[in-house]
Amino acid sequence: MSFRITYSVLEADLSALHAQFDEALAAVRSTLGGELPSWLGGEAFRSGDLLQSRNPARPDELLVSVHRTPVAEVDRVVRVAREAQRGWGATPWQERVRILRRAADLISERRMELSARMTLEVGKSRLESLGDVEESADLLRYYAGQLEQAEGYSRPMARLSPNEDTRSVLRPYGVFVIISPFNFPLALAAGMSGGALLGGNSVILKPSEETPWCAEGLYQALVDAGLPPGVFQVAHGEGEAVGAALVRHPGIDGVSFTGSKAVGMELHRRMSTGRVRPCLLELGGKNPAIVCRDADLEAAIEGCFRSAFGMSGQKCSALSRIYVHESLYNAFTDGLAAKARDARVGDPSLASVFTGPVINAAAVKRFERAVDEARQDGAVIAGGGRPRLEAALEEGHFVEPTVVALSHGHRLMRDELFLPFVGVTRFSTLDEALLRANDCDYGLTAGIFSRDAEDVERFMAQAEAGVLYANRRTGATTGAWPGVQSFCGWKGSGGSGKGGCGPYYVAQFMREQAQTRM
Ligand code: SER
Repeated sequence: MSFRITYSVLEADLSALHAQFDEALAAVRSTLGGELPSWLGGEAFRSGDLLQSRNPARPDELLVSVHRTPVAEVDRVVRVAREAQRGWGATPWQERVRILRRAADLISERRMELSARMTLEVGKSRLESLGDVEESADLLRYYAGQLEQAEGYSRPMARLSPNEDTRSVLRPYGVFVIISPFNFPLALAAGMSGGALLGGNSVILKPSEETPWCAEGLYQALVDAGLPPGVFQVAHGEGEAVGAALVRHPGIDGVSFTGSKAVGMELHRRMSTGRVRPCLLELGGKNPAIVCRDADLEAAIEGCFRSAFGMSGQKCSALSRIYVHESLYNAFTDGLAAKARDARVGDPSLASVFTGPVINAAAVKRFERAVDEARQDGAVIAGGGRPRLEAALEEGHFVEPTVVALSHGHRLMRDELFLPFVGVTRFSTLDEALLRANDCDYGLTAGIFSRDAEDVERFMAQAEAGVLYANRRTGATTGAWPGVQSFCGWKGSGGSGKGGCGPYYVAQFMREQAQTRM
């Protein structure tokens, strides 16, 4: 399937993008302090129970307050979704494609405003935000193309007798609950929702409680594109409250979730009770890179730096374990530590800043505990503290990019931290490095740096992860794009075996039916 990528961050001259971002940021800042409803049954729902969205770089800056969806409303929300799905599921697939493509175009048109909003709400650097917004639009287009290529998933089958005509068709399941995380607040909400909607399901989106403002951008694009009322609802609130009530409801036919392994496993159990229902999971990672004896040292340092510390390590694809050949260990760790110390951490809305804050105070606490543990059991090579920043950012959730030396078996080399925190350890043979890289509950992404084609092929054949990269200077383990790298978690990193961004995605939101006509 041919697919044209619209990732403007790859353009050579970024100055025009920065100028547009500055303008959008000023416009967005002038709207702060408003209220957002939950969107239930095509109508604004104001419960009066408000959730506040704040800027993690300046927590005293209130962005918006959003009306939570009360648990008592969940039954009505599910009934509306079931009713709306009947019409949407019966809508010709070409019309579903047209609406989702229109939504993608609207997201592209609004990309600067949405990126500025995202930088304020999540603390992503401006180019990371722009990448997230453009990825959202590309995901919708790419998934729409899957339906076109498969002609709506209806294909003729063999005949048992001459007067019999059989087709295999994919049909929607019904109502999908989509639970999306804070770190890609538009791309993951749009991608999972888009897959479900294109498949003819209605969707109840429960976005992260950290990012209601970004979710509002998706809702507006879908509604403005012509999605009928009730087909896409947005229920705001905490996972333990409205999220749990949604997935407990017997009227839900499927769940798609991106987030932690613990929550994903609980959802999987829940969706297997009563009847078996699809539960598409994209979970965490503890992603390794192997730096071989013959690696291009500069490329390895750059690629590992970007993947470990871009977006303050808050990507499920982020690099968190590095296995370095003993002959390169000192040169590599010195180089990585120097880059970590030099990285500019600060207000992510500034063009010169490499990375912004982590999402909240709990993440800062997690960081401090991890640093204490690393000091006790290993060594902190770079970072480990809170950066000194100007007074306006003093309350922000900032931490330093941190490199630690730890043994392979240490807890911090196994548990996902979701922080700018990377552990380095040495190896002597590639067999040993592969064994250690694979010795982990997770299996999302992995990278290798080597000039030896045979070693690269061994890595490709043996690494236990869904997304593999060799010699990737732009990101040792990060940076998958729709239509390029399927984003597929193995082992504890995922459940469906077919990744977002990949060619088999939309079909997972549909069930097969054989139709024989005489
Ligand atoms: N697309 C992102 C990446 O690969 C998702 O985490 O880094």
